[in-house]
Amino acid sequence: MADILLGRGDTDVRLLGKYANRHGLIAGATGTGKSVSLMVLAEGFSAMGVPVFLADVKGDLAGLSQAAVVGEKLKPRLERLGLNAFQGQASPVVFWDLFGQKGHPVRTTVSEMGPFLQIGRASCRERVSSPV
Ligand SMILES: Nc1ncnc2c1ncn2[C@@H]1O[C@H](COP(=O)(O)OP(=O)(O)OP(=O)(O)O)[C@@H](O)[C@H]1O
Ligand SMILES: [Mg+2]
Repeated sequence: MADILLGRGDTDVRLLGKYANRHGLIAGATGTGKSVSLMVLAEGFSAMGVPVFLADVKGDLAGLSQAAVVGEKLKPRLERLGLNAFQGQASPVVFWDLFGQKGHPVRTTVSEMGPFLQIGRASCRERVSSPV
């Protein structure tokens, strides 16, 4: 099964997909990389075909919907980490909007949600990655 590269030092730290259905906690002082870690997990799960629900209270996670542009800051970082094959890739994102004006309305009927809930089953994903 696929895994998610969480960090790179003397050895790589990877989350094995088969162990991802457990509880986790990301804790740290402000600016230590909690949100970035969360985005790495979300991107990884999305790439595996696992639906991800994120409450983006501060609005700093929405960038997952855009492909990263390799600029002057990112380029040396990628070289240092040996991620030469890196290519920015947008994750498929649906925004939910409490007011139903700029995204999928949060208050919705079960019949409206039907197609969404069926996606996992219809695409023959593994049982663990199916949303229901
Ligand atoms: N793994 C990393 N490698 C290099 N830089 C990183 C890494 N993770 C985060 N950063 C840098 O640190 C900055 C702060 O990260 P992030 O926003 O994830 O912190 P945070 O813990 O969520 O902060 P806050 O508590 O304010 O929400 C990012 O803008 C990024 O530039
Ligand atoms: Mg944060």
